[in-house]
Amino acid sequence: EPVGEEVSRSPVVTIMGHVDHGKTTLLDFIRRAKVASGEAGGITQHIGAYRVNTDRGDLTFLDTPGHEAFTAMRARGAQVTDVVILVVAADDGVMPQTEEAVKHARAAGVPIVVAVNKIDREDADPDRVKNELAAREVIPEEWGGDTQFISCSALTGQGVEELLEAVALQAELLELKAVRECPASGIVVESSLDRGRGPVATILVQNGVLQQGDMIISGTEYGRVRALLDERGERVKSAGPSTPVVVLGLSGLPEAGDEVLVVEDERKARELADHRREKSRDKRLQAQKA
Ligand code: GTP
Ligand code: NA
Ligand code: MG
Repeated sequence: EPVGEEVSRSPVVTIMGHVDHGKTTLLDFIRRAKVASGEAGGITQHIGAYRVNTDRGDLTFLDTPGHEAFTAMRARGAQVTDVVILVVAADDGVMPQTEEAVKHARAAGVPIVVAVNKIDREDADPDRVKNELAAREVIPEEWGGDTQFISCSALTGQGVEELLEAVALQAELLELKAVRECPASGIVVESSLDRGRGPVATILVQNGVLQQGDMIISGTEYGRVRALLDERGERVKSAGPSTPVVVLGLSGLPEAGDEVLVVEDERKARELADHRREKSRDKRLQAQKA
């Protein structure tokens, strides 16, 4: 746990829901509408997270297949999501993965905002969605519960602004805090090997301010931050709490959910990496014996 003065930070949001209920379409609409237009050099970068501005402040979206990312990260004890947007298609209603998402959010203690999607469809039945979720104890505010249900269409954009407002409002209630004045730390959202640039990791900074030139360690991989890129692929010098950032300079690929820490110098990083390697080897040996 970092020590120091706490300052408020913006929320991290994950979109979950049943297959084909519109998660990607919703993300695409938000991104088109809210993320500054024009991608660096016309190259579309895949990055696992991005930030959007709303009238109530910034929101960070984790653009990962919700369930897997959630499960993988929770398995490692990492909690990155502050609010879940649960997308439910109004023409289809609650489905198995909808229920699973509710369970995930509940287990993690993360509040849900329901996006009643595909409201533009003739057979849309938002009341059915409310009834079915209420039966699973996700009760709409207007029925005396504490969950906001927002009707929207990811296709036309109807209601999306309202949805973002609802998420921002929900997050305000959480009074999210982070420590800025401490060695930076965060969580790996995803990583991949780039032909030209080597290991590339998307990191969500949780505390402190990650800087170009910092020595970082994640799992057993370490290295000096050679460059930081924002969601548009543009270079930035630093990234503070709740900011997703692409990091170049690691020796290898950390896994999603791994913690990232800034350490003093390379010697310290090597020591820690060696120690972690030994520990996992011991664990493996013990498991073999058992
Ligand atoms: P998976 O990633 O496969 O789980 O699906 P998803 O939840 O990301 O759904 P996706 O965004 O791929 O949308 C599935 C289909 O529904 C696509 O054909 C979309 O165009 C359509 N769709 C999504 N949102 C809406 C909406 O608001 N209205 C209508 N009419 N169609 C929508
Ligand atoms: Na789909
Ligand atoms: Mg999708």
